[in-house]
Amino acid sequence: MADYIPQTFKSNDTIIQGDVSASSPSNIALVKYWGKMENQIPANPSISYTLSQCRTHTTLHFRPKRTKDLRFKSSVIFEGKENETFNKKIHTFFSKIAEFCPYLYTLQFEIHTENTFPHSSGIASSASGMSALALCLVELEKEMGANYSEEEKLKRASFLARLGSGSASRSVYNGLILWGKHPKIDYSSNLIAQPLQSEIHPIFKKFNDTILIVHKGQKTVSSTQGHDLMHHHAYAQRRFEQAFENITKLQTILQSGDLKAFGELVESEALTLHAMMMTSIPYFILMQPNTLEVLHKVWDFRKKEAVDLYFTLDAGANVHLLYPEKDTTIVHEFIQNDLATYCEDGFYIHDQILF
Ligand code: DP6
Repeated sequence: MADYIPQTFKSNDTIIQGDVSASSPSNIALVKYWGKMENQIPANPSISYTLSQCRTHTTLHFRPKRTKDLRFKSSVIFEGKENETFNKKIHTFFSKIAEFCPYLYTLQFEIHTENTFPHSSGIASSASGMSALALCLVELEKEMGANYSEEEKLKRASFLARLGSGSASRSVYNGLILWGKHPKIDYSSNLIAQPLQSEIHPIFKKFNDTILIVHKGQKTVSSTQGHDLMHHHAYAQRRFEQAFENITKLQTILQSGDLKAFGELVESEALTLHAMMMTSIPYFILMQPNTLEVLHKVWDFRKKEAVDLYFTLDAGANVHLLYPEKDTTIVHEFIQNDLATYCEDGFYIHDQILF
């Protein structure tokens, strides 16, 4: 399939006041997106699992703007309080998508948004947040007369969400999601994410992700800054090639049901992501001492028990533990008895992947 380029939306101007709501989960990448070009084009394709419990709920109230100018008018109410920082982020997002959504200049918005996970938990909220907002905008377009099929609606939401935050493009869909052009996957696209269309072994369709909140605070280096540092990075080219290779390998693994190979690839991807951070100039480390404690505990546990428990990391100190449904009881016991102590305030979240 050719890259999907949504048309600029043309309103019939019949509905100009109302509200729309959407909810979207966070996601965790198995093959990581780290490095991008202009217009949010990823340097390599990525594959992620979409979560189910860690979500953002957003309601968008809209009505005609009183003044006719090219300024966006909105306010953001985050968890009940007006939030100017988020409002600025949303204006930046609006400026990137306005050429596709001209009604952003003629309407004014009140955006009510909240997360099911604590804001300070260090869980990336940009993926779920931008995805929920993009889904709201597409709903709003439907109210204004757009006649999208469900598939077109999700493609357009993914296209718009990507321009807010790359990983948000994947949160529009449940399951295993691919974003980024890969020469061997004809439907793949840099502009939108889509569910992986290759066959998936049933073992990977009932999967858990427990997020261990090792560190709740703000990250010292944002993802956007981290992506930027890949531009003049000594190892960037080889890393991008490796990610392309890992996409092909992961597809085969997901078909075969080979959990061990899955774990090896996913853990290597996580450590490579952090290796890229440590070898950037300026270099930085987002892992905390307790992140490493957890990784060693997981490796020790795997040596002792015949359990398919693997970790991955996002751009932070928290650890995502991935394991199939069959190992839920033993892994939950292990987390409670041996890992909770490395979590800030003993805090962790059990989540699942839904298909
Ligand atoms: C490490 O999507 O947060 O989580 O596009 O600048 O908003 P921006 O970056 P973002 O980067 C996510 C990086 C990652 C890996 C991944 O999700 O693939």
